[in-house]
Amino acid sequence: EKGGYASFMLKEIAEQPKAVADTLLGRVDGEGTLSLDEVRIPAAVLREVEKVVVVACGTAFHAGLIAKYAIEHWTRVPCEVELASEFRYRDPILDARTLVIAISQSGETMDTLMALRHAREQGAKVLAICNTNGSTIPRESDAVLYTHAGPEVAVASTKAFLTQLVACNLVALYLGQVRGTKWGDEIRAVVRELSHVPEQVGRVLETMEPVRELARSLSDKPTVLFLGRHVGYPVALEGALKLKELAYMHAEGFAAGELKHGPIALIEQDLPVVVVVPSPRGRSVLHGKIVSNIQEIRARGARTVVIAEEGDESVVPYADHLIRVPATPTLLQPLVATVPLQVFACELATARGNDVDQPRNLAKSVTVE
Ligand code: F6R
Repeated sequence: EKGGYASFMLKEIAEQPKAVADTLLGRVDGEGTLSLDEVRIPAAVLREVEKVVVVACGTAFHAGLIAKYAIEHWTRVPCEVELASEFRYRDPILDARTLVIAISQSGETMDTLMALRHAREQGAKVLAICNTNGSTIPRESDAVLYTHAGPEVAVASTKAFLTQLVACNLVALYLGQVRGTKWGDEIRAVVRELSHVPEQVGRVLETMEPVRELARSLSDKPTVLFLGRHVGYPVALEGALKLKELAYMHAEGFAAGELKHGPIALIEQDLPVVVVVPSPRGRSVLHGKIVSNIQEIRARGARTVVIAEEGDESVVPYADHLIRVPATPTLLQPLVATVPLQVFACELATARGNDVDQPRNLAKSVTVE
């Protein structure tokens, strides 16, 4: 069943190029046009949407955080992202012009289900992004965009996350397309870029041996920190979550701009800090700032593990370990930058003797609140 892999998790990490390709299949064409006919919410309704609210838990919540950047960028419609478990208890403001997006691999997560029920009671339209055909969350939603990751067996989410990112980008671009924003040409260009992602993820997977070696060498560390900015911030949160779940280590993700507001006090000699660096082309201001952050933490003794785009030479002097990912448009970078973090957590957990498919205290689908 594991197809020759030592764990389902390794198998599912390896399946990511196909999972991404399958999720794009039939939805994008070579011209850069999206067809999401399956989203049965009429275009007229989508044009009237005044606010988007994303609800999800855990890894799916991290996909939601990234969706916010894409939705607001392509549509200029305000988007909030909220942990499903918090959502209904704060009496959120919802109406018929609110589009709620519920993201769930299993489609059975009780917190997410209760959040969407609450949203529908208030008259909001709900679009589910889900990996499990016919599960409860899509059945109770107005529409569903299925991710086609295939069954995910390992408790920690990997390929489902990547396909959630694809789906979130598709929804954001589609909303932009139907609402006819002035970025039509750019939208078509990014849609075309999406079709390169499976091959780019495949290339990342081929270069993971040094990451595995690094992970093994850090297996006795008490803490690993993760930093990112913009869409790299949720990637940092996801890297930390994977390490907590699998390696049972203290791991935290921070927005790099917050360092000076507190977390920099944690930096000490030999503390491993993983930094996700944005493209120098897309967000050049942020890029410069994060390179300064890397210099700052390194000056304080941190062992820097830098994830940077191919060809970005500015980080070389400050990286104790450099992990390269292919150049992508800014909003698509999480699709390649997350992969080394999955491999890192999986290898580190294995080195610590943990069962990566069945981490302690966790269940694949959390059907209680
Ligand atoms: C992390 C993980 C969990 C799930 C969360 C939501 O690796 O698997 O954090 O992402 O429990 O589950 P779904 O997506 O099934 O609603």
